[in-house]
Amino acid sequence: MRENIESIVKHFNTYISIKNIIKLRFRGGPKSHIFLITDKENNKKYILKKIPNDYDVKVEKSAICTNILRNEGIYIIPEYYYSDQNNYTYKSKNGTTWEMETYIDGLNCKPLEINSKTAVSLAYQIGYIHKVFMEINDSVLNINFESEIDFINMIDDTQHLRTINYMNELLTYNIPAKDKLITEIYWEKYQQVRNEIFNNIRNLTKKKINKTLIHRDITFGNIIFDNNKENVTGIIDWDTVMLGANLQDVCYTIGHYLVDTRNKAHTIDLVSSFLKAYISTSDLSKYEILYIPEIVDLFLLRTTGWRTKNYLNSLKENKNEKPYYYVNVYKRKILYWVKKRDKIKNWLEYITNKL
Ligand SMILES: Nc1ncnc2c1ncn2[C@@H]1O[C@H](COP(=O)(O)OP(=O)(O)O)[C@@H](O)[C@H]1O
Ligand SMILES: [Mg+2]
Repeated sequence: MRENIESIVKHFNTYISIKNIIKLRFRGGPKSHIFLITDKENNKKYILKKIPNDYDVKVEKSAICTNILRNEGIYIIPEYYYSDQNNYTYKSKNGTTWEMETYIDGLNCKPLEINSKTAVSLAYQIGYIHKVFMEINDSVLNINFESEIDFINMIDDTQHLRTINYMNELLTYNIPAKDKLITEIYWEKYQQVRNEIFNNIRNLTKKKINKTLIHRDITFGNIIFDNNKENVTGIIDWDTVMLGANLQDVCYTIGHYLVDTRNKAHTIDLVSSFLKAYISTSDLSKYEILYIPEIVDLFLLRTTGWRTKNYLNSLKENKNEKPYYYVNVYKRKILYWVKKRDKIKNWLEYITNKL
């Protein structure tokens, strides 16, 4: 294996002599193999990732965007390495595709470990990145992104139809009585809330909102902190970067990372600190702030859509082995939304009203 990895590394312009290679293990994710490689000369560390074959475009975009930030002096972003095939990926003879970047030293911080300092540090970094992108908007807009993400197309009819189909298929399964809650309570609530959010967001998108390059996945696995878990040392995994509303990164991070209904005081404190710090660094209009609860709500609703799909798939796949593990995970997450949705929205309304 070492042989093989060494030969792949040679195709990137890092000029390292390898001291050791460690395979990192992670669940899920599109990148099937991730290696941590140390250089003999200076102990500098690199990450080599095996990526899906159609990922070239994503890596190319990530590299362009992270280069912009690095040129502006933001070094918490990994540097992507160029290969001898004239782009930021390397395709080996046996058809595998690879990318290589600098390793960012540090730790992940689990949602319940976050304190206000952590949240403030994160907000400053996200705010600063947005600010830099906004200031150089001309060069940002010159990058050819074939698509732009908009709140409305996250919840548009195509998406909705897909979720309806998953649900209809789910209804054909003979699921246990105790799971009927999903098809009954959840499904009714989903449809009602979806229409509500859809109409509200449509009004928002008629107004002018700040747009620039956004990361779109700033959460647990993609943020690296120092050893005290207080200061952000890295924001990695830029595969999802796209033109879109700054508000999206802000609300995504709140919904997927900062809100935890196990502790109300904790959540209110974190989200307020986060938003205050973000606003002091980058820009959010009064109007945008007003929509934060709605957009977080949209993200949480969306996750129930793909969870319905996964719930369905796990019913299909797990007939014989480990039957209920994955089913239960998705089921629990969907029902969590049913039970906690109103609470979360109230908290966020309380917080944004005070800003
Ligand atoms: N440049 C990097 N520096 C430090 N850790 C990294 C780096 N790239 C990846 N990792 C580690 O590998 C994990 C998965 O990598 P990532 O690119 O986020 O893949 P995925 O698409 O599966 O989320 C990260 O959560 C992080 O712990
Ligand atoms: Mg990731």
